[in-house]
Amino acid sequence: MASKVKPQEQTEVSEAQIAVHWKEEGHYQPSDRFKSQANMRDPHILEKFGLDKFPDCFREYADMLTWFEPYRTVLDTSDAPFWKWFVGGKINASYNCVDRHLAKYGSKAAFIFVPEPEAEPDVVITYQELHTRVNEAAALLRGLGLTAGDRVTFHMPMVPELPITMLACARLGIIHSQVFGGFSGQACGSRIQDSGSRVLITMDSYWRNGTLVDHKANADIAVRAAKELGQDVDKVLVWQRYPGKYSAKTPMASGRDSFVNDLLKDYKGKNVEPVALPSEGPLFLMYSSGTTGKPKGAQHSIAGYLAYVTATSKWLLDIHPDDVYWCMADIGWITGHSYIVYGPLANAGTSVLYEGVPTFPDAGRPWRIAERLGVNIFHTAPTAIRMLRKLGPQEPRKYKYQFKSMTTVGEPIEPEAWRWYYDEVGKREAVITDTWWLTETGGFLCTTVPALHPMKPGSCGPGAPGIHPVIYDETGAEIPKGSGKAGNICIRNPWPGIMQTIWGDRDRYIKTYFAKYNKSPKSKDWRDWPFMCGDGAVQAADGYYRILGRIDDVINVAGHRLGTKELESACLTVPEIAEAAVVPVQDELKGRVPEVYVAVKPGVPPSQDVVDRVVKAIEDVIGKIARPKRVYIVPDMPKTRSGKIMRRVLAAISNRRDVGDVTTLANPDVVEQIRTLVQGKDVVATREELPEDIAKFGEVE
Ligand code: WTA
Repeated sequence: MASKVKPQEQTEVSEAQIAVHWKEEGHYQPSDRFKSQANMRDPHILEKFGLDKFPDCFREYADMLTWFEPYRTVLDTSDAPFWKWFVGGKINASYNCVDRHLAKYGSKAAFIFVPEPEAEPDVVITYQELHTRVNEAAALLRGLGLTAGDRVTFHMPMVPELPITMLACARLGIIHSQVFGGFSGQACGSRIQDSGSRVLITMDSYWRNGTLVDHKANADIAVRAAKELGQDVDKVLVWQRYPGKYSAKTPMASGRDSFVNDLLKDYKGKNVEPVALPSEGPLFLMYSSGTTGKPKGAQHSIAGYLAYVTATSKWLLDIHPDDVYWCMADIGWITGHSYIVYGPLANAGTSVLYEGVPTFPDAGRPWRIAERLGVNIFHTAPTAIRMLRKLGPQEPRKYKYQFKSMTTVGEPIEPEAWRWYYDEVGKREAVITDTWWLTETGGFLCTTVPALHPMKPGSCGPGAPGIHPVIYDETGAEIPKGSGKAGNICIRNPWPGIMQTIWGDRDRYIKTYFAKYNKSPKSKDWRDWPFMCGDGAVQAADGYYRILGRIDDVINVAGHRLGTKELESACLTVPEIAEAAVVPVQDELKGRVPEVYVAVKPGVPPSQDVVDRVVKAIEDVIGKIARPKRVYIVPDMPKTRSGKIMRRVLAAISNRRDVGDVTTLANPDVVEQIRTLVQGKDVVATREELPEDIAKFGEVE
């Protein structure tokens, strides 16, 4: 693959038409026990959501919600490709997730919070209690003068106060923007600036891997970073991990910072009517990495988004009100928004929130939690599966939990890891849904319907009901199923969960997701606007899709997208660095991790100190999640004659592969120097095929 650097080759052989060497896996059938209780058992469901029934088929999703005023139009395409769903209706997400369940499920648990320290008791929050706490928090936000359309940034850990504050915002139409708690203060600051938030909501501390982290320190950095970018933050609201006690060392800034628990005293028992909001009002922003350094604020709607996550939680996660459902993701990612908070609650489910790391204090922890709480639906990512398998392959056997279904999400799962998940974690009883989707898509795109479709390790399955994928090659020709060829997977049609736009950047929205395959930019017909997901995929003869990973310059580390440009600009904050290039390398546990190549400015001697500061810069600007595996100081970057850094060549070197023909580069000699530096004098390249995402890495320049 690395040899595909010659421009003439790129025109002769279509880039996306890569032969895929992949052993077909066998199918696994869902158990009769699962089938007999499943929410979705209609064998004609995919036909009912066929393109000939589009968009009216999605009325069924809207019907799962409670409306203050009915909608008039299912899909309005007049501002294509900025789709508007269920137009004309009035609705409130907080009402749908909380109030409407009170009569029937008021005393049932909405959330069960499991603190990381094992000696600390669980906190059960019933729907009734959730209602009280959401209303008080909403009263507080209203008291601060916040109203519908305002943005508020959160930088919260995995605690019940996070969904409580989200739902309080939703009650008033305030647009929340939760930044993953593990991101650095600076990363939070740039997202505050982009969203134009004047309020930051955070928590003083939280438990992570046995340490009570001082999280308030990040708020000070975030506010400073936002200010440097031109955005003032007037108020920082600080929840206390232990109410009534301040668990951080960082001082509170007077006039700016307040403890939420103190402020709440004025709002005890207050009720706030859920505001009847337009269907297409924004519910939240979720920042995601793209091919330029600037994160994109995926803007999700109230009605379309909520309808989509409600229906997919019911039919595909198979959540019933009497299930105990545990998604181990963090609410700071889209998976947590859709499938810990909004989807499960809209279905009156019981959702488990776990504060800490899955392997704390040992690899039996998740299974102890599952046994104790009677968890019967389990949802996690391949990176956690690999880690739990490595550290405690037989641990699940020691515990008497029984899952009926399990989900994997975030990155492709290797068939070996899939089989361990199925055999050991699921005890050969639980069905697995491998759900493929993106921050931008709000909910699942491809997955099996668990009671209807057999599972196939490593493949996510067909399109979800009403989702019609298509694989295009670089020229826009469809790649047929069973051809063994991979290409760019797109979705032919809009669906209610799709993002509305990139916050504040309509052009970038069109450019990123539609421009490549749209032939008539003025068209108002949805058929002209396939949504490009940015993943490579192949469709087997049985119609199942297998996702090969991102095709752009985005590295998926432990299931989370990190923008390489963002990492590279972090490196350049070290004054000695002249140039930086970041590439993905294969990692046993995390799937992919970044490796960094830097060139120092003339006259600067290479040193360990520079390396250390590059690592620190990445941790400070983005967070520990982005910590590079290695940093190499190189004499120069391999470049094309037009001066573009050839990340593909570096990726081949980092992954111990042959760099192929580099004679067309401006500086071919440097490639061998770098190769020797990284791989040693002898040629150690393996002939093994590179995974597609790495092979294609750096092609989109
Ligand atoms: C990858 C996470 C294979 C994919 C919901 C996608 C997957 C990116 C799967 C989105 C899966 C997610 N199989 N790959 N089941 N799920 N991905 O925005 O590359 O954090 O483009 O959304 O994760 O990551 P994001």
